[in-house]
Amino acid sequence: MSGALRSRIIGCGSYLPQRVMSNDELSEIVETSDEWIVERTGIRQRHVAAEDEKTSDLATNAARAALAHAGIDASEVELIVVATATPDDTFPAVATQVQRKLGITHGAAFDVQAVCSGFIYALSVTDAMVRAGQAKVALVIGAETFSRILDWQDRTTCVLFGDGAGAVVLKAEPAGDIRTDRGVLASRLHSDGRYRDMLYVDGGPSSTRTTGFLRMKGREVFRHAVENLASVVGEVLNEAGFEAKDVDWVVPHQANRRILESTAKKLGLPMERVVVTVDRHANTSAASVPLALDTAVKDGRIKPGDLLMMEAMGGGFTWGGALVRWG
Ligand code: ACO
Repeated sequence: MSGALRSRIIGCGSYLPQRVMSNDELSEIVETSDEWIVERTGIRQRHVAAEDEKTSDLATNAARAALAHAGIDASEVELIVVATATPDDTFPAVATQVQRKLGITHGAAFDVQAVCSGFIYALSVTDAMVRAGQAKVALVIGAETFSRILDWQDRTTCVLFGDGAGAVVLKAEPAGDIRTDRGVLASRLHSDGRYRDMLYVDGGPSSTRTTGFLRMKGREVFRHAVENLASVVGEVLNEAGFEAKDVDWVVPHQANRRILESTAKKLGLPMERVVVTVDRHANTSAASVPLALDTAVKDGRIKPGDLLMMEAMGGGFTWGGALVRWG
């Protein structure tokens, strides 16, 4: 292919583990209540992976669904990028195990680690590689088993997260006019490592030789999330030459309903244009944006030609946004 390229998203899919854990069930483990969790976060339930279910299993199921939706055979995939902070093992990359499970032996597969912003990072990196001609068809997956790194004695964190996976299929197409093209129109990534202690896992191969548990200063994270998300959304819109009013759907990282509301308000967008799944999925980290996308595409809210703003913020801190014309 010669000339400028655009990555079109030709399909999406997702997977949630079968087991659903309600707030009431959690209140039997830690001192909390359905009322507190719903009021402070909007979360009503979360999915939890089975003992023998690994992140690569969730990712592969989501990838299969996305390939079926795109009408593409796995053999056509030349690149697999998985965003995850909860890999099966320290190495190899989850993406290589997804590749194996899909029966692919050509092309490349690697993981991206940006915690809850992981899907935006993976989408941005994959888009750049597709536009550079490195792959004609690529899978971008966000998959997590956060239940494995939660301290189930800590009510300030264990009520917030869930397990799941979501995936999209990107395809290289000739670029035309950014006003009308389908696909990834612009993306922007940020990080600031000074905020490590606000949201981190207190273990790792090189520090403690253990997996560790998630630790978070919730109130601080909340404040930074609203600021950073509104700012990166503005940057992405500016780069692509669009305004907030042009956006049909915000597909945000699902951390907390109050963060979604505050960010929407800051952008001057009504909540009717924000896809909300945090009530059913909780925070699934890198999986939450593609899970929300798949939910709204499959229930018919997101239609071909709609302009989508995806955004996320996570540990590091990391944050980013991507503007996509669907279909
Ligand atoms: N059940 C009952 N009470 C609780 C619970 C719980 N599960 N958790 C905390 N509390 C108590 C606290 O102990 C505290 O009690 P105290 O006043 O007696 O000390 C009280 O509730 C208030 O606690 P705060 O932490 O001030 O509550 P806040 O309103 O800030 O809500 C929350 C906490 C939900 C964590 C909020 O700060 C938040 O959502 N922050 C953003 C966190 C987040 O989304 N992180 C992920 C984003 S980035 C990423 O996705 C990786």
